[in-house]
Amino acid sequence: MEPIDWKNLGFDAYRTRTVVFSHYKDGKWSTPEMTETFSFTMDPFAQVLHYAISCFEGLKAFRQKDGRIALFRPDRNAARMQRTADFLGMPCPSEEMFIRMCGDCVRGNLEFLPPYGLGASMYVRPLLFGVHPQMQLVPYPEAVFAVMCAPVGSYYGAHLKSCAAAIPGNYDRCAPKGSGSYKIGANYAATFKPYKWAHEQGYAEILYLNSCTREFVDEFGSSNFFGIKGNTYVTPLSDSVLPSITNLTLQQVAVDLGMEVEKRPVPLEELAEFDEAAGCGTAVVITPLSHIDMKPVLEEPGVSRSFRYCSDGEVGPVCKKLYQRIREVQDGDVPDVHGWCRYIGY
Ligand code: PLP
Ligand code: COI
Repeated sequence: MEPIDWKNLGFDAYRTRTVVFSHYKDGKWSTPEMTETFSFTMDPFAQVLHYAISCFEGLKAFRQKDGRIALFRPDRNAARMQRTADFLGMPCPSEEMFIRMCGDCVRGNLEFLPPYGLGASMYVRPLLFGVHPQMQLVPYPEAVFAVMCAPVGSYYGAHLKSCAAAIPGNYDRCAPKGSGSYKIGANYAATFKPYKWAHEQGYAEILYLNSCTREFVDEFGSSNFFGIKGNTYVTPLSDSVLPSITNLTLQQVAVDLGMEVEKRPVPLEELAEFDEAAGCGTAVVITPLSHIDMKPVLEEPGVSRSFRYCSDGEVGPVCKKLYQRIREVQDGDVPDVHGWCRYIGY
């Protein structure tokens, strides 16, 4: 195996050694197996291929300072997958099985787990997909649960470097009372074209507004939104954004650092009042925004509004502090006073 350049990892579908999987059929999960072939066979009529009956999770494992391996808040991911699976009418592993298989996957790929202190981690991707062959639009209790992982560094090519975001004029993310708060694959399918457009215009991120009235901030394609106003951490209350575990963690970190937290609807106009604005999520950790441009209609050149926070690449002091603290807990540099780390071995 080629030595891994731990310091320069991006966020890629790195092929490790093994994937752990289990098949739910006839009312029970099969004993989890490890496969090194990285391939599945399925019926061409499988639900996932036609109707996108699929959901996933994303969490990270860290090699901590004392040598222990920690999964970060896997109980929250397990609970969120159960909620999503219920939305899709799918069977879902218990919390115990979910965490056990995530641990097995990390331990089965130990040579790919980044060492402590290099800014890298192991991204764990649990995936649940419907494999029953069918044409009818009804749930069927059969699924495969697979856990894969990849060593990752920074999502955008550098840790904590600000980038630009665009509010796309003619794309919405999810309908009110639709699928926005669930981690289904189909929500991401709808972002590929807007991301392509944004990247071509030089924006790393897209920020979606609430699709009903387009008056409030919802979230980014990859992550939740938060803004900093004075000593307050503000994040949108919306039933069409993903309940982010990183956001939940940062709200507690903000309180620990003596800040106020407000979770409430965030009017579009308020983007002009924040001192700092950022995205947060497992993959991105924190993405500080240099500016957010609002595009009236994608085909038209120019922007109708622009909200600026800092120069490209720069980072505000609060984002820096929040980032440092969450990373210290994940790396085991400070005591885990909230019990967020689940230790799975050495
Ligand atoms: N919002 C979206 C659309 C996401 O894909 C993610 C990533 O998982 C998040 C928010 C952040 O959620 P979490 O912090 O649980 O990773
Ligand atoms: C995560 O942060 O875990 C996600 O699933 C986001 C995705 C865009 C990589």
